[in-house]
Amino acid sequence: MDDAMTDPLIEASGLTRNYASRPDRVAGVSDLTLRVGRGEFVVIQGASGSGKSTLLLMLGALLRPQRGTLRVDGVDLCGLNASGLSRFRARSVGFVFQLFHLVPYLTVRHNVLAGLPPGGAVDASEADRWIEALGLTERRDADPATLSAGERQRVALARALVKRPSLILADEPTGNLDPDNAARVLEHLDRYRRAGGTVVLVTHGSEANRYATQRLRLEAGRWVSPSSNAPSHASAS
Ligand SMILES: Nc1ncnc2c1ncn2[C@@H]1O[C@H](COP(=O)(O)OP(=O)(O)OP(=O)(O)O)[C@@H](O)[C@H]1O
Ligand SMILES: [Mg+2]
Repeated sequence: MDDAMTDPLIEASGLTRNYASRPDRVAGVSDLTLRVGRGEFVVIQGASGSGKSTLLLMLGALLRPQRGTLRVDGVDLCGLNASGLSRFRARSVGFVFQLFHLVPYLTVRHNVLAGLPPGGAVDASEADRWIEALGLTERRDADPATLSAGERQRVALARALVKRPSLILADEPTGNLDPDNAARVLEHLDRYRRAGGTVVLVTHGSEANRYATQRLRLEAGRWVSPSSNAPSHASAS
């Protein structure tokens, strides 16, 4: 734990991203502080529009903060140009989304191979290892359109895990799954974490709470107490 706190995987302070197109109300995230140690499973909850995806996109270097500092996996994400950011993503981050985002004209195996980082740093045989680990061997040559939702999300997981990322960013990964498949996906994420990985997962639900090493809650772009069901301003009274 001490190591995790002295060498955090994610360190953010004053992180802010507002959308200029929404001057009528708070949109985006404001002044967020975040510290995530290696080996953590962070669960972020919050209502629709509270800024969860905005935060996740910044952690994955897909969206630039407007203010604040952000270090992930030893890299200052605010100081990188576009090619530096894409190198960072290729090396360090695996993404998993609610709607899977598989490539429809590639087989399961080729979707997983697509997750390998450029440059041959990871052997292609790793793809088959993950296909087997995620119970997809029989669907290896199938088209994504013929898969069940649970199978699709396991392909997306294999694609994210195959490059051995330092960090998995998961945006509602169980949002389209039945309880059994949701539990299976969370179990695989936790297995990756126990092997030394780090997970930041965004969700509306509560089924990931049992895996959480840190629980956070966003409301209108700011942290509030995770146990509070009331609006954040109510907690001051
Ligand atoms: N590209 C954009 N342009 C303008 N406003 C945006 C943009 N992206 C997000 N927003 C606004 O910023 C706020 C936060 O959006 P975000 O997608 O981060 O919320 P969320 O917590 O992920 O919601 P959900 O649970 O519905 O996915 C919302 O009010 C949204 O409408
Ligand atoms: Mg979202």
